[in-house]
Parts: sequence; structure tokens; C-alpha cells
Amino acid sequence: MSITRNEELIGMQKASEAVALTLKEMRNYAKPGMTTKQLDNYGAKILSDYRAKSAPYLTYGFPGWTCISVNNEFCHGIPSDKRTLQEGDLINIDVSAELNGFWADNGGSFVLGQDINHHQKLIEASQQILKKAIYSIKGGVRISDIGHLIETEARKRGYKVIKNLTGHGIGRNLHEEPDNIANYKDRFNLTRFKKNAVVAIETFIATTSTYAVELNDGWTMIGNKGGYMAQHEHTIVVTDGKPIVLTEMNGIWN
Ligand code: CO
Ligand code: CO
Repeated sequence: MSITRNEELIGMQKASEAVALTLKEMRNYAKPGMTTKQLDNYGAKILSDYRAKSAPYLTYGFPGWTCISVNNEFCHGIPSDKRTLQEGDLINIDVSAELNGFWADNGGSFVLGQDINHHQKLIEASQQILKKAIYSIKGGVRISDIGHLIETEARKRGYKVIKNLTGHGIGRNLHEEPDNIANYKDRFNLTRFKKNAVVAIETFIATTSTYAVELNDGWTMIGNKGGYMAQHEHTIVVTDGKPIVLTEMNGIWN
């Protein structure tokens, strides 16, 4: 969406606060021995207290409130009472929701407890790249130039990017135009970021894979060549200068 009135900015700020605080609290709550279902229930309570509804459930009928993906799972992991978290797991939580007709989206990867499986370097790469990408966006910048930046920064650090997962416009729906903010230089995409546009910017930084493929459960995605992936995501408003990071309070890049 494009912000044209102050009420729209306030609506987006409120929806963004709901998803950002839920993500932050879920991350703090996650402990070894807990199931991903327990973690999702905790997030559901926070969203419900805001009167916010799960965006993936509303949009796609996703069987959970939030997406929780562990280790080799890249994204869209289904909360399950059979999946128990362990020390050193690479966890991705993605929280998106609708509140009073406004939609916001954010996510982040982190290591649970001690980094015994050495995922931290990948996570820090993704955090740094998201920050660099977001602060390179303003009205008039080509979407493909941000994709180029993300891919270049990933390569510099010895990583790859996932080509079939993208950031997207957001605001009045979970996914809006521009709907393919890729992590690589898509030379066919001539679209530019527009001032006042609300967009969800997300990294998909991977160790070995370049595509995400769906498992038989119809949701969970893993790498076409295995390995691990880190994702970090903020919902932002594009301006003439520094973007407004609506989900900043999630703390994913601190
Ligand atoms: Co998301
Ligand atoms: Co998103």
C-alpha cells in the first residue's frame, strides 16, 4: 500500500507493533525442551491480546499462528507438538498478522542457547545484509539494485541467496505489489521503490542451496541442496531518505 493519510500510518504502526512485539517475546520465551507448538501458542496469545489475526492463516489457511522453522527447514515450518527444540538449534520465527485491516510482517533467525552447531556467522551475515539493504532503499531506487546488493554482500561472506523467496509489498494484504523483491539482481525487474510505499524486506542467506523446495506436508520448505538458511525481515515505509522501520522494536538486528 501507499501511505496517503496519517490514519494509515497509525494503522500500520499498530499492526507492526503487534507482530514485532510477538516476535521479540517468542524469541525470549523459546527454550530447549519446548515444542514448536508451545512456542506458537505463546505467540498466539500475544497476537490475540492485540486483537490481531494470523496473516498466513487468514491468507492461506496455514495450520498455525506463526511459522516456526528449525535447522534444515528454511521457512513456513508448521508448529508441532512433536517437534522439540534443542540447545544450539537454528530457529526461524516469522510473524505476520492483520489488525484493523492493516497487515504487517517480520521474522528472524537465531540460535537457541549456546551456538554449539556454529550458526552464528550465518545469522550475523543475514542481519548485517538486511540492515545494509534497508538503508539503501529510498524512493526511485531500483528493486533489482537492492537484490544485487543482497547477493553481492552474501557472496562476499561466502554465502548464497535463495532465488525463489522474495520480499513483497504489504499493508492492505499480506502480499501486494511489488510482490517480488528478490535477493539477486533480477534484470527483468525494472520496478523502482516508490516514496510512501509499505514493503516487507527480507533476506534469504544460505550455506549451500539456491532454491527452496516444499516438503510433502504442503508447507515446510527446505533447500534444494540442503544446508541452512537465515532470514531476517522488517516491514518499512519508503521515504526520500532513511526508511521508517515499522517493526524495529522486534530487535532482530541488535
Ligand atoms: Co514474514
Ligand atoms: Co514477508
